Amino acid sequence: MKVTVIGAGNVGATSAQMLANKELANEVYLVDILDGIAKGKALDMYESMPILQSDSRIYGTSDYSETANSDIVIITAGLARKPGMTRDDLLVKNAAIVSSCATQAVKYSPNAYFIVVSNPLDVMTYVTLKVTGLPKHKVIGMAGILDTARYRSFISMETGYSMKDIQAQLLGGHGDTMVPLPRFTTVAGIPVTDLISKERLDSIVERAKNGGIEIVNYLQTGSAYYAPGTAAVEMAEAIIKDQKRVLPCTVLLEGEYGISDVCVGVPIKLGKNGIEQIIELKLNAEEKSMFDNSAEHVKKTIQQAMELIAKQQ
Ligand code: APR
Repeated sequence: MKVTVIGAGNVGATSAQMLANKELANEVYLVDILDGIAKGKALDMYESMPILQSDSRIYGTSDYSETANSDIVIITAGLARKPGMTRDDLLVKNAAIVSSCATQAVKYSPNAYFIVVSNPLDVMTYVTLKVTGLPKHKVIGMAGILDTARYRSFISMETGYSMKDIQAQLLGGHGDTMVPLPRFTTVAGIPVTDLISKERLDSIVERAKNGGIEIVNYLQTGSAYYAPGTAAVEMAEAIIKDQKRVLPCTVLLEGEYGISDVCVGVPIKLGKNGIEQIIELKLNAEEKSMFDNSAEHVKKTIQQAMELIAKQQ
């Protein structure tokens, strides 16, 4: 198993270290436009493997030919948010970066599964799908796992119940329009609506929606990376171990939920064939309307990005 992580910044380095720590891949390639950063961080991680008792080997490079025949490529390259910026503000620069990284990576690893982490996430997933020409079951965006992890941790804080017992689903874009679903949230099978008042739950949903900016405002110089890196590795693990996990991920919809030609978050079955099923939840009118609104926002941003890429070519 060979995994390439593009972008040796905070998210990429966290993902690479965790992949190797969990021994999910024999070889992990950390790629960055800054060769020394990739090499230095990879060597530092390599040197931690004897302590971690892991035989994963981590290499750093700026040369994509070394990543040839990767099974999985995780794209984290790009700019991170600073205070006052929305994820959409990253659009112009990150579209160019992600499109260049994905094009080079697929040239050497035409059979890889691509996990996209760079923001704005839904758009970057669509860009990766288009520039690589890969089939849609092979390109998957990481957003819903992070957003539900935030939501689940806030529910654990509120109730005092174990993180392990809190399950949740979420739909929509990775931004202010995301749609956490209290009706599909349980604590060990007990509906969360029986455990937390509507008022408190509404405020938890709001905090989850703004979970990214909460961290940006603390850090001031960048955005979250421990939870995003961990979430990307959970997706890689589901593919590597053929776990058939049911996880909220960003995928291309082609008629599911009555939506087409948009990459947006929905529950999927994730296993050795990538996206093995798109699960269609039975939504009520309010949930459906929030999801449609979110997908519509994402669609507009995708159109903007694609026009931009076309102009640059
Ligand atoms: N090719 C390869 N690497 C690149 C390129 C490129 N064309 N352009 C930038 N990079 C690298 C940078 O050199 C840097 O090391 O991407 C890395 C980004 O790292 P950070 O600035 O630490 O950003 P990070 O917090 O890791 O976030 C990366 O993930 O969660 C998203 O919103 C976040 O879009 C952002 C991305």
